[in-house]
Amino acid sequence: MKAGVDAILRRAQAEYLDSLLPESDALLALMERVAADDGHPIADREVAQLMRVVLATSAPKRILEIGTNIGYSVVVMGRACPDARIETIEIDGATLRSAEEFARQAGIADRVTFHHGAALEVLSRIDGPWDFVFIDCVKTEYSGYLDAVSDRLAPGAVVFVDNLLWGGQVAEGAKSDDQRASTDALRAFNQRFVSDPNFVATIVAVGDGVGIAVKR
Ligand SMILES: C[S@@+](CC[C@H](N)C(=O)[O-])C[C@H]1O[C@@H](n2cnc3c(N)ncnc32)[C@H](O)[C@@H]1O
Repeated sequence: MKAGVDAILRRAQAEYLDSLLPESDALLALMERVAADDGHPIADREVAQLMRVVLATSAPKRILEIGTNIGYSVVVMGRACPDARIETIEIDGATLRSAEEFARQAGIADRVTFHHGAALEVLSRIDGPWDFVFIDCVKTEYSGYLDAVSDRLAPGAVVFVDNLLWGGQVAEGAKSDDQRASTDALRAFNQRFVSDPNFVATIVAVGDGVGIAVKR
C-alpha cells in the first residue's frame, strides 16, 4: 500500500476534487434536486464523471443498466454515447415512469428500452449482447447480475459497478444488523470481481466505491 494513503482519502482532497467537476446542466441539476428532495439514490456526480470518461474510451453501442431509478445515469450515458442503445431495468413502476419522462426531456427516449420488473427475472428473458453494463441495484444480487451478463459480453466489454465500498461499511464492517447481509455480499462480490479470470478489474475509491472491469 502507498505510503501516505491517509493523506489522500481525506475531506479536503475530496472537496477539492469535487470543485473540479463539470457543472451539471439544467436537466441533470433538476434531477439531482428531485433525487435529494425525494430520497432517490442516484449516482454521485463524481461517479457520473468517471462513467463519462470510461464511456469515452470504450464507445459502447449496446448499454445495459441494472437499476434505473429516475434515469439520472440513463441521461448521463445517453448523452455521452449518442449512437448507443440503452436497456435499463427498474422494479418500481412509478420511478420508472419518472425515468421515461426525464429521458424524453433529454431527447434520448427513442434509444432507451425501459424494462419493468425484478432485475434477475428480466435478465433471464432479455438477449444482449452488451458492451457496457452498469450494475447499480440490489447489493445481495450483484454476483447474480455478473453471472447473468458474463456470457453475453464481447471481449473488451466494460462492467461498471457502483457502491462497492458502501459508505465505508464494506471495509470497516456493517453499521447495523440489517445492513450485514448487503455488506457481506459486497465483500464477497469485490473479492470475486477482482479475481475473476474472465475480467481485468479494479475498484476505485470514487463516490461510494466504483468497480470497473473489462472482459478478456
Ligand atoms: C441505486 S438506484 C439506481 C440509480 C441509477 N442507476 C442512477 O444512478 O441514476 C437502484 C434502483 O434499483 C431499483 N431496484 C431495487 N430492487 C430491484 C430489483 N430487484 N430489480 C430491479 N430494480 C430494483 C430501486 O427501485 C432503485 O430505483
